[in-house]
Amino acid sequence: MARIPKETVDQIIHHADIVEVVGDFVSLKKKGQNMWACCPFHHEKSPSFSVAPAKGLYKCFGCGKAGGVVQFIMDIEGTSYVEALKYLAKKYGIDVQEEEKTPEQQLAQNEKDSQFIVSNWAKDHYHHLLEHDDEGQSVGWSYLRQRGLNQTTIATFELGYSLDQWDNLLKSATAAGYEQKYLEKTGLVVVKEDDNGQDTGRRYDRFRGRVMFPIHNVSGRVIGFGARTLKPHDKTAKYLNSPESEIYHKSDVLYGLYQARQPIRSEEQCYLVEGYLDVLSLHQGGVKNVVSTSGTSLTDGQIRLVKRYTDNVTVLYDGDAAGIRASLRGIDMLLEGGLNVRVVLFPDGDDPDSYIRKVGDQRFKDYLETASQDFIQFKTELVSREAAHDPVKKAEAIREVLQSIAKVPDPIKRQVFLQQTSQTFGIDEQVIISEYNKLARQPAGKPGTGGGNTSSGGGSGAGFQPETRNQPPRASRQLSPEEEAEALMYGASPEDLAGGGAGAATDDMEPVPDILERCEREVVRLLLLYSAQPLAPEVSVAQYLLEQLDDTTFKTGIYADMLHLCREELNQGRWPEVRTLIQHGRADIRSAVAELATEKYELSPNWTTHQIHVPRELDVLQPACDNAILRLNKVNVERELAVRLEALRNPTDEAEMMENLQTIHLLKQMDNQLANLLGTVIPRLNG
Ligand code: UTP
Ligand code: MN
Repeated sequence: MARIPKETVDQIIHHADIVEVVGDFVSLKKKGQNMWACCPFHHEKSPSFSVAPAKGLYKCFGCGKAGGVVQFIMDIEGTSYVEALKYLAKKYGIDVQEEEKTPEQQLAQNEKDSQFIVSNWAKDHYHHLLEHDDEGQSVGWSYLRQRGLNQTTIATFELGYSLDQWDNLLKSATAAGYEQKYLEKTGLVVVKEDDNGQDTGRRYDRFRGRVMFPIHNVSGRVIGFGARTLKPHDKTAKYLNSPESEIYHKSDVLYGLYQARQPIRSEEQCYLVEGYLDVLSLHQGGVKNVVSTSGTSLTDGQIRLVKRYTDNVTVLYDGDAAGIRASLRGIDMLLEGGLNVRVVLFPDGDDPDSYIRKVGDQRFKDYLETASQDFIQFKTELVSREAAHDPVKKAEAIREVLQSIAKVPDPIKRQVFLQQTSQTFGIDEQVIISEYNKLARQPAGKPGTGGGNTSSGGGSGAGFQPETRNQPPRASRQLSPEEEAEALMYGASPEDLAGGGAGAATDDMEPVPDILERCEREVVRLLLLYSAQPLAPEVSVAQYLLEQLDDTTFKTGIYADMLHLCREELNQGRWPEVRTLIQHGRADIRSAVAELATEKYELSPNWTTHQIHVPRELDVLQPACDNAILRLNKVNVERELAVRLEALRNPTDEAEMMENLQTIHLLKQMDNQLANLLGTVIPRLNG
């Protein structure tokens, strides 16, 4: 058994800081004396894993795992005490003067250690061949250079080359004293079997004549390899990968995570790509927070891994439609995992690697900023485009989007997404919500609800209106008899009330007016109905709203006119009121006023349908006004953004494009800020 001298052990334990060591594997947040995180040893949604810096200990109150720095490394890596010490020694630059050991002694540690050690040796061997062997240089090295990779990147990712021979690795490893058993267990060497599955006794290298991409685990140990052929007409697979082994569990590994984990944490963002080369090119171009699923579909294990470092994931897609469709499921899983998911689509035919090489680092980064879209928004637009002009498909498309929304664990986010969906499809929010509730009530795993991926608790917990599940959904603007009578008193004609007017929504998926028009109408409604109500000493609703709207012009003719009228009234020292405006000379203004005055209060659909606590709108005027203004601003920002993005597609000159990019950047920031503000203003149901 290998031994590390006692004084070296003491030195390692003295230097190793538990917060730093654990912090390489999970994102710790300070709360009180201790640091907290979601436990890396068992699956959980809220943190019960704690680190006590003063005591140098970690403990999970969920699964009971506990110990000091060395134990932590042993637990998370499944290695021996000695290997854990060596890991820490390397991290803190402490020299370990191990007693001189033969490879046999090294391999006698434990099974896993042995596989780590032989994989590490193979990585060094392949790397050495790439740098110093003639074939490695002329074939491997020149290929990597031709793919645009520089010395630093090659070194950072420890790339290598396997000679085009049947047994170069096998021979070299044996000569160096490594046991064949571990070469076989890690899949570096293939056991040749006959047709009946009997060992023929023959052995050969798995990887021959390929560029080698070592796959590291989160602590930087090599656990397997990806290997690319360099022969364009090779009949075998373009990439060959190590098989599963005791140390390599494909479903729990993301390529590049070891190199990306710190940048992911500092950027609070993880880019997810498909290929090895995508990771390398982006890293070299300065986008270092990038990992790859290596061509397989995303697994729960990989999602948990990302979640140790950040809640924000941006998926970078090749731009072909089939690929996008195929990945939608994986993205739903990200949502289910509670991650915030954005999407960047590349022009057809490009993957992130080819695109960054084409446009250069800076423009690539700009592109990530400008082209990134919230996933739900992205999916909504994708399916709504596919379903354009086909009502049946459209209904199906909406259901598809709602299924994704049902995966989002956070009720407030769900509400925002439902609002967005209503905007994109031009369908009244209340209709969307009632459709959502129908879906959310269906048991998870039922055909059509998103497949066999049974999320815990199913969809029903995500419903908005559980109490009213057996009642038909209410249309948002149905008038009660009293309201109708009142409206008629104010001079509205029966036809005005019979729907058909702006915003009439029913249970059928009828289109409702443009979202901007709705936002403007809501502001005018608050203005008219509550103009004199005080929000603060000396500030009434009318003063507040008109002040906020100082530099906004309304786009809907009738509401622009009404806003102007209200402003005039206020300037004359009068409160703009229903009572006066209903007398106006213009018939269209009279009926618009009547309509607004009778509009059912729809600040929050939840309140009206939940029958728990229904505050009067009068009691929540401040949030109602803020909500209306923020939504209006957000819609205006989004429209401007759409115009700018469109212009980007047909750029006329470089200067204009740069200016556009800058504006887009600003608009995006505004949009995010508004979304955040809206998040704090939208009445909370569960919070
Ligand atoms: P791609 O075919 O998109 O390859 O597969 P790529 O990454 O763009 O590779 P280059 O640019 O041609 O070198 C994406 C990923 O799928 C996995 C690999 O991880 C690859 O990076 N893959 C692909 C395999 O595992 N086996 C294959 O035969 C092909
Ligand atoms: Mn590629």
